[in-house]
Amino acid sequence: MTDQTKHQTTAQADQATSNIWGGRFSEATDHFVAQFTASVNFDKRMASQDIAGSIAHATMLGQCGIITKDESRQIIDGLTQIKGEIERGEFVWQVALEDVHMNIESRLTALIGDVGKKLHTGRSRNDQVATDIRLYLRDETKKIVSLIAKLQSGLLDLASRHTHTIMPGFTHLQTAQPISFAHHVMAWFEMLVRDGERFVETRRRINQMPLGSAALAGTTYPIDRTITARLLGFDGICQNSLDAVSDRDFAIEFVSNASILMMHLSRISEELILWMSAQFAFINIPDRFCTGSSIMPQKKNPDVPELVRGKTARVFGQLTTLLTLMKNQPLAYNKDNQEDKEPLFDCVDTLTGSLIAFADMLPNITPNAKNMKDATMKGYATATDLADYLVKKGLPFRDAHEVVGSAVGLAVQKDVDLSELSLDELQSFSDLIADDVFDCLTLEGSLNARNHIGGTAPSQVEQAIERGRERIVKV
Ligand code: ARG
Repeated sequence: MTDQTKHQTTAQADQATSNIWGGRFSEATDHFVAQFTASVNFDKRMASQDIAGSIAHATMLGQCGIITKDESRQIIDGLTQIKGEIERGEFVWQVALEDVHMNIESRLTALIGDVGKKLHTGRSRNDQVATDIRLYLRDETKKIVSLIAKLQSGLLDLASRHTHTIMPGFTHLQTAQPISFAHHVMAWFEMLVRDGERFVETRRRINQMPLGSAALAGTTYPIDRTITARLLGFDGICQNSLDAVSDRDFAIEFVSNASILMMHLSRISEELILWMSAQFAFINIPDRFCTGSSIMPQKKNPDVPELVRGKTARVFGQLTTLLTLMKNQPLAYNKDNQEDKEPLFDCVDTLTGSLIAFADMLPNITPNAKNMKDATMKGYATATDLADYLVKKGLPFRDAHEVVGSAVGLAVQKDVDLSELSLDELQSFSDLIADDVFDCLTLEGSLNARNHIGGTAPSQVEQAIERGRERIVKV
């Protein structure tokens, strides 16, 4: 099929438009208006969900005797054939037929004749489109959750290799206390646990069926919504027809979850970008995730994290779009809602792409243990340990804080680490200090001392990784 035959002439478009609306209209839709109001160029993405919904609806109509069993069978066969045409790329999408729903219905009637016109009995595009989006998002949620799971398990593997790799932990981006690289990675893991849970929880609210609500008030036919819901694998049925065709809160919730997840990926990106700079030199990101510069031969740029950080802005924008789209719509369906799809689809693409890239890249970063350790030695990361040492010898914490502050002052002056001050020098600040002080001033000692759930001691982080295996998100 050539592109030319796929695209209709204006005359055909006008004719097709007037055919759809039937008797109510005395002139065909203006050509520009037809293009302007059409959604098929983007909502055709939901074709497989639309067909699944129609097959379930036709099955239910047949079982309830609203159409005959034979009519139901013909409709289902026709829809199955259309599904094949779409999958093989043979289907001719027509803008004049406005949206995915009418394109498929029109093709059905062309294929099986007047029986095809019975498919829309007891249904409206309003409950149809709401159903399609829910089915679509349900499918996408499953894919996203499995990508989160893949990233989580990669992070556990990365962490398990580095429970003894010491790096500075930061607050205010200033060296604070020594931690292990594994502990840092496990913080990312925790963020993703909550992200995964949010999608799983939202899926329950997505997976409620609007079909049967028809245009807004329900339908006069003796339908059985439980049949359709069961066939489509919905967890439940939307309980109010007005609400069912109107609200897109489930989509807003999805994009909200996506925004939070992207915010996390963006924070991680920011760290990777900093850590890959020559000034930090904490990590290496494999070449396949980086690009060079067209002018500076030495450059290796962390493009993937930079782009993920940038793409986060798109998803935040989509959340604002959907909230704003919804906020002044009176019940029930309004055409405004057609504008929900492009932001939603772009959100799915952006999130999916970012997760694919991260699940592949993040577990494969390699820390530079030496640089991390050297950096930890520089910022007086064990100062709190010295204060804790004094507290354990009986000094109140505030006084200990003061003493250590003075010791750090001397170390800064001499440009040495606290552990490099002599015992005499340390004792000049407090006579509670004895030669066992050096145990608490080592980085390893500092880590080992934080030996409780949630602490950075290697044995604790090892257990956290073990527990993590059971906490990988599942749909
Ligand atoms: N394309 C429309 C949408 O995305 C389908 C529903 C149209 N309903 C209507 N009454 N015009 O929302």
